[in-house]
Amino acid sequence: MNAIEVKSLRKVYSSGIRQKEVVALQSLDLTVDPGVIYGLLGPNGAGKTTLIKILLGITHKTLGEANILGEDISNYQIRKKVGYLAENHKYPPFMKGEEILHFFAQLGGYDKPDLDQRINDLLKLVDMEKWRKTKLKNYSKGMLQRIGLAQALVNDPELVFLDEPTDGVDPLGRKEIRDIIKRMKDDGKTVFLNSHLLSEVELICDRVAVLNKGELITEGTVGELTSDNDEYKITLDSPLEEEFKQKATGSFAGLKCNRTKIIFSTKDSSELNSLIDLIRREEKQIMEITKQKRTLEDSFLEIITGKEGKNGDV
Ligand SMILES: Nc1ncnc2c1ncn2[C@@H]1O[C@H](COP(=O)(O)OP(=O)(O)OP(=O)(O)O)[C@@H](O)[C@H]1O
Ligand SMILES: [Mg+2]
Repeated sequence: MNAIEVKSLRKVYSSGIRQKEVVALQSLDLTVDPGVIYGLLGPNGAGKTTLIKILLGITHKTLGEANILGEDISNYQIRKKVGYLAENHKYPPFMKGEEILHFFAQLGGYDKPDLDQRINDLLKLVDMEKWRKTKLKNYSKGMLQRIGLAQALVNDPELVFLDEPTDGVDPLGRKEIRDIIKRMKDDGKTVFLNSHLLSEVELICDRVAVLNKGELITEGTVGELTSDNDEYKITLDSPLEEEFKQKATGSFAGLKCNRTKIIFSTKDSSELNSLIDLIRREEKQIMEITKQKRTLEDSFLEIITGKEGKNGDV
């Protein structure tokens, strides 16, 4: 059974007096296996939140099919097995941390007698025991997000949706949130994460999908998205002559030169060695060769804009 299965999903919003139409999702196909941390990436307005809202029944699809945990999303009973941390959530500031957890447990129909123990465990999991009796208005952004994560888990869900969980949180707080998300996975939960913080996603997600203007652009493991070719930067001691540049770019695909630097993209180290032979034959001194790893950000920028990311700059 898939944790999430979406087929030809389309969402068109109509808004304003003129009922202007916005296509938020074009015709989306997506499958998420159980037990993974799945990252959905995309620029602002890509349709990430819309997808989560459809899966949770907060907004309705226009066309297509969607299942979660093996059930059609029209079966609202399935939402008992789902947790959700909304983007830019606003819990009542006058409530205390532990009250929020009680409130959402009751709202979600938690019916086991161990609720107090569960709340204690969750406060411990998100390291908020010390602040359980403090009002939310006194919480930092990181603390609010940690209570939000505990809230998303209060009904012991099988599938957890987190919409930008680390947005606005400092690096230390983000690390704490990443650790909590990893513990959710260790606990057997499936985590579906929306984010535009690529470095975060790179660190914790098993698979990622990139959405742009409502369309799925690519999908795979982080490794698959970042491991195209290795990129080598070769720095020389003196400027390259035009003749050499032409010879080099003519002989090696994926090679770019500027005054004293050569950037070469290849999977094949023997090609790199042939390039070095060519440089040496020209009696140029190599000052430095560095291998650059493509980051998810490089791949993302390339996918979204059609241009190369920072590693492509010569
Ligand atoms: N209730 C709505 N009515 C009309 N248009 C909407 C509504 N909600 C979202 N949209 C539009 O749908 C598109 C997708 O929005 P969505 O919020 O899903 O994007 P997102 O990827 O979550 O963006 P962000 O990274 O900014 O959170 C956008 O063009 C947005 O303006
Ligand atoms: Mg969003």
